[in-house]
Amino acid sequence: MTSSGSLLRAERVTLGYGRTPVVHDVTLDITGGGVGLIGESGSGKSTLARAFLGLLTPMSGNILYGDQNLKKVDMRRFRGDVQPVFQAEALDPRMRVGNSIAEALPRDARHRVPELLEQVGLDPALASRRPHQLSGGQRQRVVIARALAVNPKLLILDEPTSALDVTVQARILDLIAGLAAERLLITHNLAVVGKLCRTSHVLFAGRVVESGPTADLLARPAHPYTLALRDAVPKLGGEPPVARGRAEVRPAETGCPFRPRCPMAVTECDRAPALRDLGGHQEGQDGRRVACHRAEDVLREPSARR
Ligand SMILES: Nc1ncnc2c1ncn2[C@@H]1O[C@H](COP(=O)(O)OP(=O)(O)OP(=O)(O)O)[C@@H](O)[C@H]1O
Ligand code: SF4
Ligand SMILES: [Mg+2]
Repeated sequence: MTSSGSLLRAERVTLGYGRTPVVHDVTLDITGGGVGLIGESGSGKSTLARAFLGLLTPMSGNILYGDQNLKKVDMRRFRGDVQPVFQAEALDPRMRVGNSIAEALPRDARHRVPELLEQVGLDPALASRRPHQLSGGQRQRVVIARALAVNPKLLILDEPTSALDVTVQARILDLIAGLAAERLLITHNLAVVGKLCRTSHVLFAGRVVESGPTADLLARPAHPYTLALRDAVPKLGGEPPVARGRAEVRPAETGCPFRPRCPMAVTECDRAPALRDLGGHQEGQDGRRVACHRAEDVLREPSARR
C-alpha cells in the first residue's frame, strides 16, 4: 500500500509515444473495491494501463507501488502481484489452452491447471483444446485463469468483455466480480463500472475530467462529458457508442479541451479548468472531483438528475 492507502498510484503522470504526450498530468489511485476507467476511444485508457503495468515509462511524474517508485520495484515480485487481463485474441492460437495456463505457473505448480479452469467456470477437459476450438466467452475465461495463476493482488482488465455478446459479457463480469483480487477495469461501458467499481475516473483526451464514487458519479454527473457518456448508453445493454459520433471533433489545444463539443461552454472556458473538489456538502459530493468551470450548473441541469 502507498501512504495514500492505494495499491498503485499515478502521480502527476504524463505519458506518450515518442515525444508526443497523449496522457497529461494524471493523478489517480487504485484503491479497494474496484476502480473504473471510462472514456471514449483514444482517450488514453490503455496507455495509462500500460504505465500501471510497468510497460511504459512516464515522460514525467511517477507510478508508485507500495510507496516505491515502480522504476525501482523488483519486477519479478511486481508481476506476481499485478496481472493484466488481455483480450482473448492474445492467446497463442497454436498452443493448447491448458499449456497456455501452465506456462504462467511456476514449474512445481503446473498440476493446478484443472483447478484454475474450474475456478473460472470451465470444464478441465477443455485444457487439451486450442483457442479456436473454444467459444469467445470460454477463451476469455482462459485468459482470466492465466492471469489468476500467480495469485495476483490486482488485475488490470482492459476491455475484458467488449468482444463478447451481451449475455456472455454478463456472465464473465459476474466471474470477475467474484474474484478475490482487486481490479482496475477499463471499459466503454458505464453499466459495467456501475456494477464492478466503487470508484471511477472519466478520461477525456488524456486528462481526468471527473472522478468519484461510481454510483454518485453516474447518478449525478458534474462534467458535461460524463453526462453525455451516461446519456449515450442504450437502454438494452450492448456496447454503448459513448458519444462517439462527435469524437472526430478535436479537443481544444488551449482552454478547456472539451470546449469544441461542450453544449455549456461560455467565455470563461477559454481558460483551462483545473481538477477540483466538488464544493458543498450535499449528498453524493464526497470524494467527487471535476474539471469544469460550470460543474455546479451541470448538477442543476434537469438531465443531470436521474
Ligand atoms: N503504440 C502507439 N504508438 C503511438 N501512438 C499510440 C500508440 N498507442 C496508442 N497511441 C495513441 O495514444 C492515444 C491514446 O490511445 P489509447 O490506446 O491509450 O486509447 P484508449 O482509450 O485505450 O482507446 P480504445 O478505447 O480505442 O482502446 C491515441 O491517440 C492513440 O492513437
Ligand atoms: S469548462 Fe466550459 S467548456 Fe469545459 S466542460 Fe465545463 S462548461 Fe464545458
Ligand atoms: Mg484501449
